[in-house]
Amino acid sequence: MANLPKTEAGHELAIHVRGVSKTFGQGEAAIHALKDVDFDARKGEMLMIVGPSGCGKTTLLSVIAGTLTFEKGEIDVFDAALQGMKQRAITEFRKRNVGFIFQQFNLIPTINLLENVSVPLLINGWTRRRAEEKAAATLAVVGLAGREKDLPTMMSGGQQQRVAIARALVHDPRLVICDEPTSALDKDTGGHIMELLREVARHPDRCVVVVTHDSRVFKYSDRMAEMEDGRVERIHESFDQYANKQGL
Ligand SMILES: Nc1ncnc2c1ncn2[C@@H]1O[C@H](COP(=O)(O)OP(=O)(O)O)[C@@H](O)[C@H]1O
Ligand SMILES: [Mg+2]
Repeated sequence: MANLPKTEAGHELAIHVRGVSKTFGQGEAAIHALKDVDFDARKGEMLMIVGPSGCGKTTLLSVIAGTLTFEKGEIDVFDAALQGMKQRAITEFRKRNVGFIFQQFNLIPTINLLENVSVPLLINGWTRRRAEEKAAATLAVVGLAGREKDLPTMMSGGQQQRVAIARALVHDPRLVICDEPTSALDKDTGGHIMELLREVARHPDRCVVVVTHDSRVFKYSDRMAEMEDGRVERIHESFDQYANKQGL
Protein backbone atom coordinates (compact mmCIF):
# COMPACT_ATOMS: atom_id res chain seq x y z
CA MET A 1 0.00 0.00 0.00
CA ALA A 2 1.34 3.38 -0.91
CA ASN A 3 1.28 6.36 1.36
CA LEU A 4 0.91 9.34 -0.91
CA PRO A 5 2.92 12.41 0.03
CA LYS A 6 1.17 15.74 0.54
CA THR A 7 2.05 18.67 -1.68
CA GLU A 8 3.94 21.63 -0.23
CA ALA A 9 0.65 23.46 0.18
CA GLY A 10 -0.71 20.50 2.16
CA HIS A 11 -3.08 19.09 -0.46
CA GLU A 12 -3.60 15.37 -0.27
CA LEU A 13 -2.89 13.56 -3.51
CA ALA A 14 -5.20 11.14 -5.26
CA ILE A 15 -2.80 10.36 -8.13
CA HIS A 16 0.97 10.49 -8.11
CA VAL A 17 2.83 9.64 -11.34
CA ARG A 18 6.64 9.77 -11.47
CA GLY A 19 8.95 9.07 -14.39
CA VAL A 20 6.48 6.93 -16.32
CA SER A 21 7.28 5.86 -19.86
CA LYS A 22 5.13 3.94 -22.31
CA THR A 23 6.27 2.79 -25.74
CA PHE A 24 4.13 1.19 -28.43
CA GLY A 25 5.87 -1.06 -30.95
CA GLN A 26 9.56 -1.78 -31.23
CA GLY A 27 12.74 -0.70 -32.99
CA GLU A 28 12.35 1.89 -35.72
CA ALA A 29 8.57 1.71 -35.51
CA ALA A 30 8.52 2.46 -31.75
CA ILE A 31 6.24 5.27 -30.63
CA HIS A 32 7.15 6.83 -27.31
CA ALA A 33 3.69 7.85 -26.14
CA LEU A 34 4.77 8.79 -22.59
CA LYS A 35 8.29 10.04 -21.93
CA ASP A 36 9.22 10.09 -18.29
CA VAL A 37 6.02 11.86 -17.39
CA ASP A 38 5.36 13.34 -13.94
CA PHE A 39 1.82 14.19 -12.92
CA ASP A 40 -0.22 14.70 -9.74
CA ALA A 41 -3.92 15.10 -9.07
CA ARG A 42 -5.37 16.10 -5.71
CA LYS A 43 -8.20 14.66 -3.72
CA GLY A 44 -11.36 16.69 -4.11
CA GLU A 45 -10.49 18.24 -7.45
CA MET A 46 -11.56 18.14 -11.06
CA LEU A 47 -8.43 18.35 -13.14
CA MET A 48 -8.51 18.82 -16.91
CA ILE A 49 -5.81 17.68 -19.29
CA VAL A 50 -5.41 19.50 -22.59
CA GLY A 51 -2.92 19.09 -25.41
CA PRO A 52 -2.65 18.40 -29.13
CA SER A 53 -3.89 15.18 -30.67
CA GLY A 54 -1.35 12.38 -30.27
CA CYS A 55 0.50 13.94 -27.30
CA GLY A 56 -0.35 11.01 -25.01
CA LYS A 57 -3.49 12.06 -23.14
CA THR A 58 -5.43 8.83 -23.61
CA THR A 59 -2.30 6.80 -22.87
CA LEU A 60 -1.78 8.68 -19.60
CA LEU A 61 -5.39 8.05 -18.55
CA SER A 62 -5.03 4.37 -19.44
CA VAL A 63 -1.89 3.77 -17.37
CA ILE A 64 -3.43 5.59 -14.39
CA ALA A 65 -6.58 3.46 -14.67
CA GLY A 66 -4.53 0.28 -14.99
CA THR A 67 -5.90 -0.64 -18.42
CA LEU A 68 -2.42 -0.30 -19.97
CA THR A 69 0.87 -1.49 -18.51
CA PHE A 70 3.92 0.79 -18.48
CA GLU A 71 7.65 0.04 -18.73
CA LYS A 72 9.13 2.39 -16.21
CA GLY A 73 8.25 4.67 -13.34
CA GLU A 74 5.73 4.74 -10.50
CA ILE A 75 2.01 5.31 -10.31
CA ASP A 76 0.08 5.58 -7.05
CA VAL A 77 -3.68 5.93 -7.21
CA PHE A 78 -5.21 6.47 -3.79
CA ASP A 79 -3.79 3.62 -1.73
CA ALA A 80 -2.71 1.40 -4.63
CA ALA A 81 0.85 1.32 -6.01
CA LEU A 82 0.26 0.06 -9.56
CA GLN A 83 3.90 -0.70 -10.47
CA GLY A 84 4.09 -3.47 -7.90
CA MET A 85 0.67 -5.02 -8.45
CA LYS A 86 -0.31 -8.25 -10.18
CA GLN A 87 -2.73 -7.89 -13.07
CA ARG A 88 -5.51 -9.55 -11.11
CA ALA A 89 -5.12 -7.11 -8.22
CA ILE A 90 -5.15 -4.18 -10.64
CA THR A 91 -8.38 -5.46 -12.18
CA GLU A 92 -9.92 -5.73 -8.71
CA PHE A 93 -8.72 -2.24 -7.83
CA ARG A 94 -10.21 -0.83 -11.06
CA LYS A 95 -13.55 -2.56 -10.56
CA ARG A 96 -14.06 -0.96 -7.17
CA ASN A 97 -12.39 2.41 -7.52
CA VAL A 98 -12.50 3.65 -11.09
CA GLY A 99 -15.33 4.92 -13.29
CA PHE A 100 -14.65 5.50 -16.99
CA ILE A 101 -16.33 7.73 -19.48
CA PHE A 102 -15.02 7.11 -22.97
CA GLN A 103 -15.31 9.12 -26.14
CA GLN A 104 -17.07 6.18 -27.79
CA PHE A 105 -19.69 5.34 -25.22
CA ASN A 106 -19.01 1.59 -25.14
CA LEU A 107 -22.60 0.75 -24.16
CA ILE A 108 -23.85 -2.79 -24.69
CA PRO A 109 -26.38 -2.40 -27.55
CA THR A 110 -28.48 -5.50 -26.86
CA ILE A 111 -29.46 -4.73 -23.24
CA ASN A 112 -31.54 -1.86 -21.89
CA LEU A 113 -30.32 1.23 -20.09
CA LEU A 114 -31.04 -0.11 -16.63
CA GLU A 115 -29.04 -3.26 -17.39
CA ASN A 116 -26.17 -1.27 -18.91
CA VAL A 117 -25.89 0.97 -15.86
CA SER A 118 -26.16 -2.02 -13.48
CA VAL A 119 -23.05 -3.72 -14.90
CA PRO A 120 -20.42 -2.13 -12.60
CA LEU A 121 -22.51 -3.07 -9.54
CA LEU A 122 -23.09 -6.65 -10.69
CA ILE A 123 -19.36 -7.20 -11.26
CA ASN A 124 -18.82 -5.91 -7.70
CA GLY A 125 -21.15 -8.60 -6.41
CA TRP A 126 -24.39 -6.67 -5.85
CA THR A 127 -27.67 -8.55 -6.23
CA ARG A 128 -29.58 -7.72 -9.40
CA ARG A 129 -32.41 -6.16 -7.45
CA ARG A 130 -30.22 -3.77 -5.46
CA ALA A 131 -28.13 -3.02 -8.54
CA GLU A 132 -31.18 -2.08 -10.59
CA GLU A 133 -32.52 0.18 -7.83
CA LYS A 134 -29.23 2.06 -7.68
CA ALA A 135 -28.98 2.14 -11.50
CA ALA A 136 -32.47 3.64 -11.79
CA ALA A 137 -31.62 6.34 -9.25
CA THR A 138 -28.40 7.15 -11.13
CA LEU A 139 -30.21 7.33 -14.49
CA ALA A 140 -32.54 9.86 -12.87
CA VAL A 141 -29.56 11.98 -11.79
CA VAL A 142 -28.44 12.29 -15.43
CA GLY A 143 -31.96 13.19 -16.57
CA LEU A 144 -33.06 9.82 -17.94
CA ALA A 145 -35.81 8.80 -15.49
CA GLY A 146 -38.50 6.80 -17.29
CA ARG A 147 -36.12 5.55 -20.01
CA GLU A 148 -34.85 2.51 -18.06
CA LYS A 149 -36.27 -0.09 -20.45
CA ASP A 150 -35.07 1.58 -23.66
CA LEU A 151 -32.18 0.21 -25.67
CA PRO A 152 -29.08 2.37 -26.21
CA THR A 153 -29.68 2.26 -29.95
CA MET A 154 -32.94 4.20 -29.46
CA MET A 155 -31.10 7.14 -27.91
CA SER A 156 -29.40 10.19 -29.41
CA GLY A 157 -25.63 10.62 -29.08
CA GLY A 158 -26.08 13.02 -26.18
CA GLN A 159 -28.45 10.65 -24.39
CA GLN A 160 -26.07 7.74 -24.88
CA GLN A 161 -23.32 9.83 -23.37
CA ARG A 162 -25.49 10.47 -20.32
CA VAL A 163 -26.06 6.73 -19.94
CA ALA A 164 -22.30 6.23 -20.11
CA ILE A 165 -21.88 8.83 -17.38
CA ALA A 166 -24.48 7.12 -15.18
CA ARG A 167 -22.63 3.83 -15.67
CA ALA A 168 -19.32 5.48 -14.71
CA LEU A 169 -20.75 6.94 -11.49
CA VAL A 170 -23.14 4.21 -10.32
CA HIS A 171 -20.66 2.42 -8.02
CA ASP A 172 -19.45 5.70 -6.41
CA PRO A 173 -15.87 5.30 -7.66
CA ARG A 174 -13.14 7.32 -5.99
CA LEU A 175 -11.54 8.09 -9.34
CA VAL A 176 -13.56 9.11 -12.40
CA ILE A 177 -11.66 9.24 -15.67
CA CYS A 178 -13.20 10.95 -18.68
CA ASP A 179 -11.80 10.98 -22.20
CA GLU A 180 -13.52 13.75 -24.20
CA PRO A 181 -16.81 13.35 -22.32
CA THR A 182 -18.68 16.25 -23.89
CA SER A 183 -17.66 15.96 -27.54
CA ALA A 184 -21.07 14.55 -28.55
CA LEU A 185 -23.10 16.90 -26.36
CA ASP A 186 -24.76 20.23 -27.04
CA LYS A 187 -23.74 23.18 -24.88
CA ASP A 188 -26.51 22.88 -22.26
CA THR A 189 -26.16 19.13 -21.78
CA GLY A 190 -22.36 19.43 -21.72
CA GLY A 191 -22.60 22.07 -18.99
CA HIS A 192 -25.02 19.97 -16.96
CA ILE A 193 -22.72 16.95 -17.15
CA MET A 194 -19.68 18.99 -16.15
CA GLU A 195 -21.54 20.39 -13.16
CA LEU A 196 -22.46 16.87 -12.16
CA LEU A 197 -18.83 15.72 -12.49
CA ARG A 198 -17.66 18.69 -10.49
CA GLU A 199 -20.08 17.78 -7.71
CA VAL A 200 -18.67 14.24 -7.77
CA ALA A 201 -15.15 15.67 -7.47
CA ARG A 202 -16.05 17.87 -4.47
CA HIS A 203 -15.57 15.06 -2.05
CA PRO A 204 -12.48 14.77 0.13
CA ASP A 205 -11.76 11.23 -1.05
CA ARG A 206 -12.47 11.52 -4.77
CA CYS A 207 -10.89 12.87 -7.91
CA VAL A 208 -12.11 13.50 -11.45
CA VAL A 209 -9.67 13.73 -14.36
CA VAL A 210 -11.03 14.94 -17.69
CA VAL A 211 -9.26 15.01 -21.05
CA THR A 212 -10.95 17.50 -23.31
CA HIS A 213 -10.60 19.67 -26.41
CA ASP A 214 -13.83 21.42 -25.60
CA SER A 215 -12.95 24.97 -24.53
CA ARG A 216 -16.57 25.51 -23.45
CA VAL A 217 -16.03 23.23 -20.45
CA PHE A 218 -12.58 24.47 -19.30
CA LYS A 219 -14.23 26.80 -16.83
CA TYR A 220 -15.49 23.85 -14.76
CA SER A 221 -11.95 22.73 -13.92
CA ASP A 222 -10.10 23.32 -10.67
CA ARG A 223 -6.72 22.99 -12.34
CA MET A 224 -5.54 22.48 -15.92
CA ALA A 225 -2.60 20.36 -17.05
CA GLU A 226 -1.02 20.95 -20.44
CA MET A 227 0.50 17.93 -22.18
CA GLU A 228 2.98 18.08 -25.02
CA ASP A 229 4.84 15.26 -26.68
CA GLY A 230 4.45 12.59 -24.00
CA ARG A 231 4.85 14.81 -20.95
CA VAL A 232 2.84 17.12 -18.70
CA GLU A 233 4.61 20.40 -19.32
CA ARG A 234 2.63 22.75 -17.09
CA ILE A 235 -0.11 22.79 -14.50
CA HIS A 236 -2.23 25.91 -14.10
CA GLU A 237 -3.71 26.49 -10.66
CA SER A 238 -7.00 27.71 -12.13
CA PHE A 239 -8.86 28.10 -15.38
CA ASP A 240 -8.31 31.89 -15.13
CA GLN A 241 -4.56 31.39 -15.01
CA TYR A 242 -4.73 29.19 -18.12
CA ALA A 243 -7.09 31.58 -19.90
CA ASN A 244 -4.85 34.58 -19.21
CA LYS A 245 -1.88 32.78 -20.64
CA GLN A 246 -3.77 31.65 -23.74
CA GLY A 247 -5.40 35.04 -24.20
CA LEU A 248 -8.86 33.43 -24.04
N1 LIG B 1 -2.42 0.90 -29.10
C1 LIG B 1 -1.54 1.68 -29.72
N2 LIG B 1 -0.64 1.16 -30.60
C2 LIG B 1 0.27 1.93 -31.21
N3 LIG B 1 0.38 3.27 -31.04
C3 LIG B 1 -0.49 3.85 -30.20
C4 LIG B 1 -1.49 3.10 -29.50
N4 LIG B 1 -2.21 3.96 -28.73
C5 LIG B 1 -1.68 5.19 -28.94
N5 LIG B 1 -0.65 5.13 -29.82
C6 LIG B 1 0.20 6.27 -30.26
O1 LIG B 1 0.70 6.91 -29.09
C7 LIG B 1 0.68 8.32 -29.24
C8 LIG B 1 -0.20 8.93 -28.15
O2 LIG B 1 -1.55 8.54 -28.39
P1 LIG B 1 -2.76 8.98 -27.47
O3 LIG B 1 -2.40 8.76 -26.06
O4 LIG B 1 -3.96 8.29 -27.98
O5 LIG B 1 -2.83 10.55 -27.77
P2 LIG B 1 -4.01 11.60 -27.49
O6 LIG B 1 -5.04 10.94 -26.64
O7 LIG B 1 -3.32 12.74 -26.80
O8 LIG B 1 -4.52 12.02 -28.83
C9 LIG B 1 0.17 8.58 -30.65
O9 LIG B 1 1.28 8.73 -31.49
C10 LIG B 1 -0.59 7.31 -30.98
O10 LIG B 1 -0.60 7.09 -32.37
MG1 LIG C 1 -7.07 10.56 -26.98
